[in-house]
Amino acid sequence: MATSRKLITLDEFTIQQTRAFPKATGELSALLRDISLACKLINKQVNKAGLVDIIGKFGATNVQGEEQMKLDIYSDEMLINVLRNSNDCAGIASEENDDFIAFDDAYSVNSKYVVLFDPLDGSSNIDVNASIGTIFSIYRRVSPLGKPCTKEDFLQPGNKLMAAGYVIYGSSTMLVYATRLGVNGFTLEPSIGEFCLSHPDMVCAEKGKIYSLNQGNSRQYDKGMLAFLDYCMEINKEEGRPYAHRYIGSMVADLHRTLIKGGIFIYPGDKKNLNGKLRLQYECNPMSFIIEAAGGVSSDGKQRVLDIQPSELHQRVPIFIGSKLMVHKALEFVTAGTEEAAVAP
Ligand code: AHG
Ligand code: MN
Ligand code: MN
Repeated sequence: MATSRKLITLDEFTIQQTRAFPKATGELSALLRDISLACKLINKQVNKAGLVDIIGKFGATNVQGEEQMKLDIYSDEMLINVLRNSNDCAGIASEENDDFIAFDDAYSVNSKYVVLFDPLDGSSNIDVNASIGTIFSIYRRVSPLGKPCTKEDFLQPGNKLMAAGYVIYGSSTMLVYATRLGVNGFTLEPSIGEFCLSHPDMVCAEKGKIYSLNQGNSRQYDKGMLAFLDYCMEINKEEGRPYAHRYIGSMVADLHRTLIKGGIFIYPGDKKNLNGKLRLQYECNPMSFIIEAAGGVSSDGKQRVLDIQPSELHQRVPIFIGSKLMVHKALEFVTAGTEEAAVAP
């Protein structure tokens, strides 16, 4: 009996992509498979988050007498455990840990890649059942093979990324993955437990109608940011209405919307926090790589985020990211505000 198949799994897709490069070894595809396995295990736990909370209220231990883990610690440990067992990961750095971890077994010291991640993004949204995510990025190491990886492997600028992606635990679970070849989205098909291609060749629209930021911080904004906010709230000539404001408070969810519908996401520096809140290596670089690969733009207000040379693992940077024309417009306001401030007495 002939069978026809429409589903392409993440694994099949990356293997097909690899075939275009005769010298490719398949290690990157294997590493992605490992990351996606960890995310499927995190997804399983995310789906039970409400139940876990209920159990917690009746006594914070499970039947084996183990303490219920917070989801972000669980996600961190899951990624570390899976990647430690992987043949293709020399070490990891995570938002949840003070320092990077170099895996020192015989396989890992010869692995070409290091992985950085924000294991659970938007964790304040867990309690309210809103979308959360995992963000990951992959660099080729610069330290010599045969020895454990070093800090320099993790302090590379985003323009050296091999690949980056995120998983959104939303109304469905999706993995969005970018290489220099483009951005593709895969939806988890629960009955077979596989991410399947659902959003091929994702493109971030050049124009957008949505601005996304924590407007509650606006008292701390500088003049340029306030002027851009005013611009967003004015009746727009093309739209006949102001731009819409949408803010979930999970970077993954806000940027997933920005990628699909267009718009701008901003976490600026302000009077209180000069460098904003979001972390360069775990959040801003991977998201900038994805959005740029989809045709969008990402800046810290002065330069391309991907061109920033990181100086420490957990450094924060301001970010303006999304549809090209909207980001350029925001940067016009921000630059004018800075120039005005520079000449003020
Ligand atoms: P995390 O949960 O990994 O600490 O990240 C939270 C981040 C990000 O997801 C979101 O864009 C931002 O925090 C929201 O911050 P505010 O609550 O300050 O708006
Ligand atoms: Mn985060
Ligand atoms: Mn996090």
